[in-house]
Amino acid sequence: MNGWIIPPPKESTRSSEEFLKERQEKVRWLIRHGFLRSQRIKEALLKVSRENFIPLLYKDYAYLEVPLPLPGEKATISCPHSYPLFYEPLGLDEGHKFLEVGLGSGYGTALAREIVGPEGLVVSIEIDPLTFEFASKNLEDAGYNDIVLVKGDGGLGYPPMAPFDRICVTAACPEIPPPLIEQLKFGGRLIAPLLEYGIQNLVLLEKSEEGIRRKVICEVLYVPLRGKYGGEKKE
Ligand SMILES: C[S@@+](CC[C@H](N)C(=O)[O-])C[C@H]1O[C@@H](n2cnc3c(N)ncnc32)[C@H](O)[C@@H]1O
Repeated sequence: MNGWIIPPPKESTRSSEEFLKERQEKVRWLIRHGFLRSQRIKEALLKVSRENFIPLLYKDYAYLEVPLPLPGEKATISCPHSYPLFYEPLGLDEGHKFLEVGLGSGYGTALAREIVGPEGLVVSIEIDPLTFEFASKNLEDAGYNDIVLVKGDGGLGYPPMAPFDRICVTAACPEIPPPLIEQLKFGGRLIAPLLEYGIQNLVLLEKSEEGIRRKVICEVLYVPLRGKYGGEKKE
């Protein structure tokens, strides 16, 4: 990906105790830098072992602020700070019915499962078959067997389980796919990187009976959305 220096692949040398210390330090760092505020998101970040969602040869870099390559076409696991960056403004919370577009490694999905808790529901869609297999195995190995995983074009949403309280798109969209806005509840929120004037803005939408309110959070850099509403070749 442009804009990041991906460290070279190497065998992992770290123990689970070392990873735990790094995870705890990362959470303190996220709080200090203003990314993390909510208790539920904090608990999820402390609980989910990010290193278990990363290909073997990149595991030791799990807590570095770089996106790392995943099996599949242009798939990456996002930087650690991007999860609170998305989930805090989204107000992801206990009991929510949550849709993620772009399963990637499954790490963000596992965090969301922890945050919404047993009363909530997580649905995640991945378009790349190799990435989908990788994430499905990571989630199964980590003991998450109650997440709805869908192989397909997330730009179309997931009508069988709509409407959703919260929707998160983890790939850059030329426009917010209209089916996602349709499948958002009134009072619901959607967050996505949106391509505008040659840059990507992280945009938060709030849907109400009166219409859609939009807020730009910050500039970001994400892999492009594929499929019907993607910016590159149509699939
Ligand atoms: C930045 S990665 C996601 C990172 C993920 N949140 C994680 O924790 O690993 C973006 C993902 O979106 C997927 N993607 C791109 N277009 C898609 C689409 N139309 N539907 C579903 N997934 C898509 C890519 O294949 C890639 O896996």
